[in-house]
Order: sequence, then C-alpha cells, then structure tokens
Amino acid sequence: MESSSLASHGEPPLLSLRHLKKSFGAVHAVDDVSLDIFTGEVLGLVGDNAAGKSTFLSLLTGYNMMDSGQIFYKGRPVQIKSPRSSRRELKIEMIYQNLSLAPDLPLWQNLFLGEEITTGSLFNNRRIMIAESRKVLEELNAKARPTDLVGTLSGGEQQLVAIARALLFSRNLIILDEPTAAISVAKIDEVLRLIRRLRDENRSVLLVSHRLEDILAVADRIVVFAHGTIKQIMDNRDISLEDLVHAMFDRTQEGAIEHGH
Ligand SMILES: Nc1ncnc2c1ncn2[C@@H]1O[C@H](COP(=O)(O)OP(=O)(O)OP(=O)(O)O)[C@@H](O)[C@H]1O
Ligand SMILES: [Mg+2]
Repeated sequence: MESSSLASHGEPPLLSLRHLKKSFGAVHAVDDVSLDIFTGEVLGLVGDNAAGKSTFLSLLTGYNMMDSGQIFYKGRPVQIKSPRSSRRELKIEMIYQNLSLAPDLPLWQNLFLGEEITTGSLFNNRRIMIAESRKVLEELNAKARPTDLVGTLSGGEQQLVAIARALLFSRNLIILDEPTAAISVAKIDEVLRLIRRLRDENRSVLLVSHRLEDILAVADRIVVFAHGTIKQIMDNRDISLEDLVHAMFDRTQEGAIEHGH
C-alpha cells in the first residue's frame, strides 16, 4: 500500500490521493493528481479558472466519480461512491461556492439537513436539534438564532451556518470552495479565523480561493493547479504574493493579479 510521501509527519495522511483522473468528454478536468492531506493542516488550492479545482474537490465529496485513481483514508484504501459516504464514513464536509443552503428553512433545519435526528418523538427531535444548533451558534459567536430563516441572514452569517455544520458533525476534513467570494470584507476575517480554529482542533481544511491574500494568510501549504494537474506544492513560508502569482501564471501574462476577484 502506498503511504505518505512526506515521511516527516509519522502517522499516515488523513487522505492520500493517487493518480486521480476525471474527464468530461474531451476535457481532462482532473488529470493524474496525487496529493497527501495531513491531519490538522490547511491546504490552499489556487489556479486559474477551469484549472480543475472544483472538479478535484467533487471527487472527494462524492459528487463526481473519478475515472481512475486511488484514495487512501488514514492508509486504508477507500472508494468515495456518493456524497453520503463521503460525509458519513470519511467525515468530509463541503461548503459550496454557492453555499447550497435552503433559504426557506430555518437555520436549525439547514444544519441538520440530510442528517436529521429521528430517534425520538417529532417534538423531542426538534427540541434537541434546536438546542444543538443553539450551542454551536454560540460557540461561533454567531448572532443568528436557530429558528431564523436562512434566507433572511446575511452572506457572512450564512457562511457561518455552513461552517457550523462542519463543527456540529465533527468533520475531519472541511472543504471550502470560494468561501469569501460572496461576503463583505468585514466578514472575511471571521471566516479566516474559523479556518484557523478548525485547524487548531486538528481538523484538516481544503480552501479554494481566488483571493490569494486569504490563501497566504491561512494556508500551511499551497497547491497550484493548472490544466487539471498539480503544477506545484509550496510550503507557505516566506512566500510573497508575487511568488504565488508567478507560480500560477506564466511570467508573460501581465496583470495576472487582476485576473482573480
Ligand atoms: N459537469 C461538467 N460537465 C462538463 N465539463 C465540466 C463539468 N464540470 C467541470 N467541467 C469542466 O472541467 C474543467 C475544470 O472545471 P472546474 O470547475 O473544476 O475548474 P475550477 O478550477 O474550479 O475553476 P473556477 O476557478 O472557475 O471555479 C473546465 O474546463 C470545466 O468546463
Ligand atoms: Mg471552481
């Protein structure tokens, strides 16, 4: 069995990905990607539009099936066959580019969507889920209440709801695809703070962002995607914005920074 390529960490990686491939027709969206994801690290994923970042993530969350490749979870070979198996068995939680919350439902129902407590009476289940929701919201210092309709919350508060789900169900790996794209600058620090907090709790985080300053602020390692492949993996030590842009784009591509959002 293949294990870590980074021997210094000792224990096997949370996830070892080997030679993952996924095509859509003639488009090689993910083309032979191998990567180790360690417990308690924040990995930043960067790359131009259509580089394959979201498709790569979809192979981990079970929304797409890879065409070929191997996945090891704590050294054990696994198959990620559905979003449910990704969430339940591997404890991977995805926070989507467009959040994918149900605006017409109250916050507590969003938190428990697909994972409702069904063991007791309807009344009791509801009571427990609301109480659990309240607890996790308090932990996050969120102003929102469990019974608030999600559609009435601000973008930043909705982001917190998505993160609260990850905390509530003790996820090992939290995946964020452009989490700060839809929220105000004031809330971005809050999200970055939460990402650090998840790491402090020894969870692993995959963060995709076009905001390179966010990546530089929180990532331990930075994975540069290009044309469906990993172009470079950088330790986030003494890396400048220029270094990162240089790794992402050809030198000839002037104004590369403006390319992001
Ligand atoms: N469901 C799909 N069907 C067909 N092609 C797809 C599908 N999903 C992604 N692709 C293609 O795969 C390639 C990689 O797209 P992907 O969304 O993974 O890129 P990305 O790095 O997340 O880009 P962005 O930064 O713009 O979000 C693109 O060429 C895209 O058009
Ligand atoms: Mg994407």
